[in-house]
Formats: sequence, C-alpha cells, structure tokens
Amino acid sequence: MTTAPLCRATGLVKEFATGRRDALGRARTFRAVDDVSLEVSRGETLALVGESGSGKSTTARLVARLMDADAGSVEFEGEDVSALSGRALHDFRGSVQVIFQDPFSSLNPRHTVERIVTAPLVYQGRKIPGGARRFTRDLMDRVGLDPDFSTRLPSQFSGGQAQRIGIARALAVGPKLVICDEAVSALDVSVQAQVINLLRQLQSEEGFGYLFIAHDLAVVRQIATRVAVMSGGRIVETGERDQIFGDPRHEYTRELLAAVPRIDPEWDARRREAEERRRAAAAEAGAR
Ligand SMILES: Nc1ncnc2c1ncn2[C@@H]1O[C@H](COP(=O)(O)OP(=O)(O)OP(=O)(O)O)[C@@H](O)[C@H]1O
Ligand SMILES: [Mg+2]
Repeated sequence: MTTAPLCRATGLVKEFATGRRDALGRARTFRAVDDVSLEVSRGETLALVGESGSGKSTTARLVARLMDADAGSVEFEGEDVSALSGRALHDFRGSVQVIFQDPFSSLNPRHTVERIVTAPLVYQGRKIPGGARRFTRDLMDRVGLDPDFSTRLPSQFSGGQAQRIGIARALAVGPKLVICDEAVSALDVSVQAQVINLLRQLQSEEGFGYLFIAHDLAVVRQIATRVAVMSGGRIVETGERDQIFGDPRHEYTRELLAAVPRIDPEWDARRREAEERRRAAAAEAGAR
C-alpha cells in the first residue's frame, strides 16, 4: 500500500481576463496556471521557482483554496477539497497556512501580537488552549521572539521579527501544509538565514510539508527537498534539489540557474561537469 501525499494537485488551470475583447466582443482570457500538477509530502519542502508572472502565487492560492480553479483538483490527505464547504472547508483552511512576503502588510498594525496570533482561532470559534496570554507566549518562544513583547504592535518589531509573528500566527491553528510565498524575500540575507533555520526547525518538530515559493535560488537551495520550475503557467521540470541544481534537464531551468550569481565553486564545478557530459553525449549521438 502506498500512502497518499499530504497534498496533491492535479491539472490545475486558472484563467484571468486580460481586459480586452475579441472580434465577437467576448472577454479575452489568458491562462495564468496551465495544467499544473504537484505533490507535497509530510516533512518535505517542494520549492516552486520561476520568473515573475509565471503563476507561482496563483498556484499557491489554488492549492490553499483561497481561489477556485477553472479545472483540476486538489487532494489533501487523500480527500478532494475542491468541493468542500462549511465546517469541512474551515478545517481544511486550518490545515493549510500561507505566509506572505511582506510581514508588515499582512499584520494588522493596530493589533497586538497576542490579538494577531490568536485571531485565527477566534475566527474559527475555537477555544484558546491555556488562555490567550499563555498561548501567545508559548508561540512567541517557539519562533524565537521575547514572550514579554506579546502586547506590542507590529511596528515595534524589525522585519525579521515581524515575519516571525506571521509564522507564529500560522502555527497557532496547527497546520500540516505551510505555503511560504516569498516569505523571506523581503529580508536581509543574514535575517533570511535565521528565518530559514527557524522554518527548518519547525518542520523537523512538526513534520510540516512546505510549498516554498521563492525567486532566489540561493534560498531555495538551502531549504528545498525537491524543486518544481515554472514558466508561463506550466511546470517545465520537477526534480530532487541536487538534480535540479547540479544537472538541470530543461533549457529554461539552465537559464534560470545561469542568471544567479554563482558563489559556490563546488556546485559550479558539478554543473559544468554535467554540461560537458551532456555535450559529449550529444556529440557522440551526432557522430553515429
Ligand atoms: N487576480 C488576478 N487577476 C488578473 N490577473 C492576475 C491575477 N492574479 C495574477 N494575475 C496574473 O497572472 C499571472 C501570474 O501571476 P502570479 O502572481 O501567479 O505570478 P508569480 O509567479 O507569483 O509572480 P511573482 O514572482 O512576481 O510573484 C501574471 O500575469 C499576473 O499578472
Ligand atoms: Mg508571486
């Protein structure tokens, strides 16, 4: 028996109106997400990379059901969630949490950390275990924030700390899948590394599956188990992290990697070797 992945998306399609009309006056549409399938298992991180506008965030919204797909399905723990409503949709929403890029715009500036962190539970009508204060202090401790700051406002924290508040809020409802949409992109490199370490630590404690969207491949390499490469609404290549970085198969993936300033000579050497092997194989095939 094979166990179902935590989350499986199959053939997702999402079209948006372009704002233009065709000769017959019908609204023109384009496919922002075009037949996207992906899987995320417990304890693994699937990174979704690709140029701006390739459909990464839209894919994330479809997976989290923040938006309905025009076609395709999303299964969560083996159950089709496309048609969920009411209580069942509520439960699903608790199991999947999204952390966005800009911590400050996703935190209400007039609410204290305590109110922010407990809001998802209050919204879901759930009891706060141990009371709001203690619950918040525990969560703050887990994400590396001083619990004594639970009555402060977001503006009293740095960017990295604010992102930790966002992570605490996601943790509050006990999710299984956490979608990070450029969650560390706005942070300084050193702060980025700390937040990535926190995410990895939480994953090892909780067994989260992560769908980790990032345009920065250096970040992806630090956290990904597997990588899916998106271009023009489609996934053009999926592979284990080491394969994608060391021996990319698709031309677009190679271009994406080539656009990154290379700082790791070992990886660079591996990629060059793989490239030479491929050239040699191609030359041999041509000679036959
Ligand atoms: N609500 C919407 N209405 C209309 N078009 C949209 C909507 N959301 C996204 N798009 C368009 O769909 C395409 C994919 O957008 P999406 O935000 O998914 O890309 P992305 O890969 O996340 O890009 P980025 O790296 O810049 O965040 C883009 O052309 C975008 O302009
Ligand atoms: Mg995006």
